[in-house]
Amino acid sequence: MLIALGVTGGVGAYKAVEVARGLQKHGHDIVAIMTASATQFVGPLTFEAITRRRVITGQFETGANADIEHIALASSIDLLLIAPATANVIGKMAHGIADDFLTTLYTATRTPVVLAPAMNSQMFSHPAIAENMRTLERRGVRFVESGEGYLACGWIGKGRLAEPEAIVATVVAVLRPATALTGRRVLVTAGPTYEDLDPVRYLGNRSSGRMGFAVAEEAARRGAAVTLISGPTSVTPPARCEVVRVRTAVEMHAEVMARADAADAVVMAAAVADYRPSVRADQKISKGSEDLTIQLTRNPDVLAELGARRATRGHGPVLVGFAAETEQVVARARAKREHKQVDLIVANDVSRGDAGFDVETNAVTLVGATLTEELPLQSKSRVAEAILDRVEPLLAARAVRVQARRRTSRR
Ligand code: CTP
Repeated sequence: MLIALGVTGGVGAYKAVEVARGLQKHGHDIVAIMTASATQFVGPLTFEAITRRRVITGQFETGANADIEHIALASSIDLLLIAPATANVIGKMAHGIADDFLTTLYTATRTPVVLAPAMNSQMFSHPAIAENMRTLERRGVRFVESGEGYLACGWIGKGRLAEPEAIVATVVAVLRPATALTGRRVLVTAGPTYEDLDPVRYLGNRSSGRMGFAVAEEAARRGAAVTLISGPTSVTPPARCEVVRVRTAVEMHAEVMARADAADAVVMAAAVADYRPSVRADQKISKGSEDLTIQLTRNPDVLAELGARRATRGHGPVLVGFAAETEQVVARARAKREHKQVDLIVANDVSRGDAGFDVETNAVTLVGATLTEELPLQSKSRVAEAILDRVEPLLAARAVRVQARRRTSRR
C-alpha cells in the first residue's frame, strides 16, 4: 500500500527515517512529505534515498503542480501518517488551515490519518493543544501515544515522539487486511428509544448513539455490510452503513427481528427502554390537582429474545450486548450474559462522568464465556475496535460451525 509520511519540524524528525524503513519492511511504499521546518532537522536526501521517490518539500516546487499533486496524491494514498506531528500542524489540521503541501493533502484526502505527536510536555497539556487533539480524534484521526522521559528541551515529561516500532505497529493495524468481518453482515443498534406518553411527552434516556455508531463505523471499515438501527439522536450516523430509524422499543424489536436471521453478528448497543406507558394518550395530558400515576408495560427484550431463539435453534448470529451498571459491574454483566444467552457483554460503569452516556469516551469491561477484559478510558472508536477484535474470533468459529452444518445437511 502507498503511505504518505508527513514529517514536520520536531527533534524527533530523524526517527521518521526508521518509521519509513519499518513500514517498507511490511511491504508498504512510502512517499515522504517534509514541511519547511522539518528540512531544518533532517535532509530531504535521506528520505529520498530510503523511499526511492522524490521527496515533496513544498507546495509550489516545479514538477509538483503538473497534475495538481496534492489532489492526485490525496486519492492514491492508502494512509496519511505524520511523524513527528508538531503542535503547529495539529492546530492547523484541527482548524482546516491548508497553507502548505502537507496540510493541503490532509484536507484533500479521505484515507485514515495517523498522527504521532511530539512536543514539550507543557505544550502537550495546554488546553488549546489538548482540545485540538480531541477535535481531531473525534473526527477519526488516530494518535500514537507520545513517550515520557527526557525531552530535547531539557524537560522531563510526556511529549517525546513514540518509538518507531509503536508508530509502525499502529499504521499496520489501521491498514489491517481482510478480517473475519470482511463480507459479513453485521446488525448494530444504537441510541435511545422514546416511549410516548402523549403527543408531546415521552420517556427517554441519555444515550447519544455514539457507541453504537462507532461499532458500526469500525465494522464497515473492516469490510462488513452494516445495517444500523438507530433510535432518535442528533449525532450523525456513519457513512457506509444502511441506516434504519426507529423511535420506540417495539419498533426497534420489529426491525431487529426482521433482519437478525440474515445477520452474522448482532451488536445491541442501543439503550432500549424496558417499559413503555401502558396507554399513549391521543391528546396532550392536562395537569390536574392530584398526583399523576403512569402505568408502564414491559417492552420486549430484543437481545434476550435473540439469545433464546439461537439457543432453541442451535444456530444463529454472534450476539453482543451492552450492560449499563452503577455497581458490581462485572458480576452483573456476567449474570446478564448468561441470562440473555449471548456471547459477549460490554459492561459500562455509568456512574463515572467520563464514560458511558452522552460523552465521547468510554471505559468498559468485556465479559465473555472465558473472558474478563477491563479496557482503559478511551475514545469510543477505540472501544469499538476492541469489541470487534473480540467479535472476530467468534465469527471465525461460527463460520466453521456453519460449514460443518452445511456438510452434514448435504449428506
Ligand atoms: N436490551 C434489549 N431490549 C430491551 C432492553 C435491553 O435488547 N428491552 C439490550 C440492550 O441493547 C443491551 C442489553 O440488552 O444490549 C442491556 O440489557 P438490560 O438488561 O436492559 O440492561 P440494563 O437496562 O442495564 O438492565 P437492568 O435495568 O435490568 O439492570
